[in-house]
Amino acid sequence: MSRPRKTIVTFGTFDVFHIGHLNILKRAAALGDRLIVGVSSDRLNIEKKGRAPVYPEAERLEIVLQMKPVTSVFVEDSLELKAQYLRDQGADILVMGDDWAGKFDHLSSVCKVVYLPRTEGVSTTQTIHKIKTYD
Ligand code: CTP
Repeated sequence: MSRPRKTIVTFGTFDVFHIGHLNILKRAAALGDRLIVGVSSDRLNIEKKGRAPVYPEAERLEIVLQMKPVTSVFVEDSLELKAQYLRDQGADILVMGDDWAGKFDHLSSVCKVVYLPRTEGVSTTQTIHKIKTYD
């Protein structure tokens, strides 16, 4: 008998896509059979970070979708709806970067929650700063 497919779900803005983003997608995908990514909407990003992303959500969704480890994407428009999104997507495991360590433990009633280490030395904020101050 074939074993059931394991579905991994992760979330993020994935703006100005960089190697840290790719690394977490690769590591998340390696935990199961398919990886579904909730990409934050422009609206949610403004609410969360106080600024619009550099790349609009339609482009961020397309970039993430075309990454080899990714099976499908959806728009995350509310932080409060995480449990609902996980149920809707049939998640077996929620993967988050360890910058969120402990913050999503309450979702373990919905699925397993795993925090993976961030890639050192790179972030979207840092990249934007670097470009701004480039001479
Ligand atoms: N991530 C990672 N390593 C990095 C940067 C991000 O593993 N160096 C992970 C985050 O933990 C998250 C996902 O990539 O699970 C999407 O993160 P996001 O917030 O979109 O990227 P950041 O580069 O952290 O963006 P910002 O600087 O705007 O906070």
